[in-house]
Amino acid sequence: MYDAWETLENNCLACQKCPLWETRTNVVFGEGNINSKVMFVGEGPGEQEDLQGKPFVGRSGKLLDKMLEEIGLSRKKNIYIANIVKCRPPKNRDPLPEEQRQCMDWLRSQFVLINPKIIVTLGRIAATSMIKPDLKITKEHGSIYKKKDIFMVPTFHPAALLRDPSKMILAKQDFIKLKNLIDHNNAI
Ligand code: URA
Repeated sequence: MYDAWETLENNCLACQKCPLWETRTNVVFGEGNINSKVMFVGEGPGEQEDLQGKPFVGRSGKLLDKMLEEIGLSRKKNIYIANIVKCRPPKNRDPLPEEQRQCMDWLRSQFVLINPKIIVTLGRIAATSMIKPDLKITKEHGSIYKKKDIFMVPTFHPAALLRDPSKMILAKQDFIKLKNLIDHNNAI
């Protein structure tokens, strides 16, 4: 386990634990305030994220930033954003279970150092990997789970909201629930 964020990040940036390192442009370690009490976890970098080395900077990232702003959150100030896998899967395919498993140590170390009170998972891959393997986003989005004193809230992936804007109203309700959870737990 790591006790220094910089060492963790530098080691992650040099990772060759799974074959995704061969096709990546950049490792997307994460972005935000490491003193935050709230972490968001996505699936893995897409094309723009791979090129820029930052999470959620493409179209879905713009939507995510807007939804965050509506409830007073911002990656510059009071949240940290990371992904299940730190390197882009070719052609944006789902990360393979083995790739997720290999990469999970980095995310676990990020959790240990940040020590969040609340983790929000974005989309199916993050929810099934972090909360429970059979979680169904369509049914269980916005539910509040608790694991080892950490609240976990699954919601839609912003890319899913861009594909199907009718889900937006449900996602906004999840974000309001999240805001209430943050306020009740002084997690800001
Ligand atoms: N989708 C994700 O899940 N993560 C990103 O960083 C970008 C798009």
